[in-house]
Amino acid sequence: MGAGSSSAAVIGLQWGDEGKGKIVDLLSARADVIVRFQGGNNAGHTLVVDGQETILHLIPSGALYPGTTCVIGGGVVVDPGALVKELDELRARGFVREPERLLISQEAHVILPHHKAIDQARERQRGSGKIGTTGRGIGPAHEDKVARIGLRMIDLCDEAYVRRALEVSVSEKNAYLKEVLGEDAIHYEAMIEELLEWGRKLSVHVTDTSRYLHEALESGSKVLFEGAQGVMLDVDHGTYPYVTSSNTGVAAVAAGAGIAPSKLDKVVGISKAYTTRVGSGPFPTELDDEMGERLRSDGGEYGATTGRARRCGWFDAMVVRKAVRLNGVDTIALTKLDVLTGIDPLPICVGYTHMGKPIGSIPASAGAYEEVVPVLEEREGWHDDISGARSISDLPAQALAYIRRLEELTGVDVGIVSVGPGRDQTLLLDDPFGA
Ligand code: IMP
Repeated sequence: MGAGSSSAAVIGLQWGDEGKGKIVDLLSARADVIVRFQGGNNAGHTLVVDGQETILHLIPSGALYPGTTCVIGGGVVVDPGALVKELDELRARGFVREPERLLISQEAHVILPHHKAIDQARERQRGSGKIGTTGRGIGPAHEDKVARIGLRMIDLCDEAYVRRALEVSVSEKNAYLKEVLGEDAIHYEAMIEELLEWGRKLSVHVTDTSRYLHEALESGSKVLFEGAQGVMLDVDHGTYPYVTSSNTGVAAVAAGAGIAPSKLDKVVGISKAYTTRVGSGPFPTELDDEMGERLRSDGGEYGATTGRARRCGWFDAMVVRKAVRLNGVDTIALTKLDVLTGIDPLPICVGYTHMGKPIGSIPASAGAYEEVVPVLEEREGWHDDISGARSISDLPAQALAYIRRLEELTGVDVGIVSVGPGRDQTLLLDDPFGA
C-alpha cells in the first residue's frame, strides 16, 4: 500500500463471488496484515498464482505472501476442523509456516457439528423454498452466538469449559435434530474429543487480535480488511431472507475486527462487469437462456465452495449504487471484463420498474423485488480479446466506454480492471492506496 493510507477494506458490491480473493491477493503485496472480519468458510476465495489455483475459505487471501500476517477476527465464525485442514494444506505447500503468521481471535465463535447438521436439514425441509445456503452451519452458529450459548475459540482450549458449556446445549440441539428435523443425533463424546484435538492444534494461533490490530495500526503497519460474500447478502441490507447471517459491508469491519471505525481509511468495492448469484432469491437481470449459459461457461461461474452453478445476468447499476451508498466506496475494482468480449450489443441495467412504474430504490420485500423489471440500456460491445491487456490504453474504445458508463451510473471511479484470473491480468488505473 502507498504512503497515503494505512488501512483499507475490500467489500463485495453484489451477491458475492465478485473476485475479492484476486484483488485482496494483489493488494496484499503492499499490506503487512490481512484480516477477515465476518462470514466463515461459506466463502471461497480463488487465487491463481503462477498458473496454480488456490481456494481459501477461512484463511485470509494474503496467506500466499511470505511476509504478511493473517488475522481471523472475532466477527468470523470458525469451523475448527475446516480451518485445521486448510492450514495443513497450505503448510504442506510451504505457506503460513510460522505460527505468528496466522492469528485467530479469542472471541471468534465456533461452528459446531450440530450447526452444520441443522443448516443442512432445514434446507432439505424447506424444499423449493430453500435459501440455498452453503450448508456450512453459518446461520445456526450465529443463532447461538446471539442467544449467548455459543462456544468461542478461547473456550476450545479449556476442556472443563467445553464439556460444561456443551452438555446442556447439545442435548437441546439433539432433541431438535431428532424430534423436529428427523435427523440423527450428534455423538456428544466423539464431538468433544474432536473439538479438543482441534483446539490443541489451533491454540498457538488464538490471541487478542483486537489489541494486535490496534498496535499494528498505531505502529504504521498497512492493514487490509478482506470482506466475504457481498452487500446484497448482508443480513440487514440484502435480499432478506435470501442472505447470509452477518453484515457483509464496511459497517462490520469495526465490530468484526475489533478496531475503531475511524481507523478505516479506504474502501475498495469489488464488482463483476456483469452479475452473478448463487442460492435462491431475487435477481432482476438474471438470464435464463443461452446468454446466461455463455456467461457461466466463459466466466467459469461455478461456486468455489460448493461447486454450484452460479446464476448469471447483466450488470445491475441499481445493486451497485446501493452498495456504494451503504459503504462509502472510494474506488471500484471491476473484475472479469474479458468475459463480456464478443457480446454486442451489451446491455446494462440502469433502473427498475415495478407494476409498470419506475422505482428509485430496491424493494425491501423479496416478493416485490421478484416482480421488478430491469430497464436495460444497450451499449456497443467489443470483439478483440482483451485478456492480454496490461494497460488501459490496450482496451478497445467500446470496453473503455463501458467502464466510463459504469462509473457514471455508480458515481465511483473504477481504479482497477481485471481481465483474467492471473496476477498479471490486472490494470491498475489508479492506485487505491496512493496518497
Ligand atoms: P450461508 O452463508 O451458507 O448461510 O448461505 C446464505 C446465502 O449466502 C446463500 O445464498 C449462499 O449461496 C450465499 N453465500 C454464502 N457465502 C457466499 C459466498 O462466499 N459467495 C457467494 N454466495 C455466498
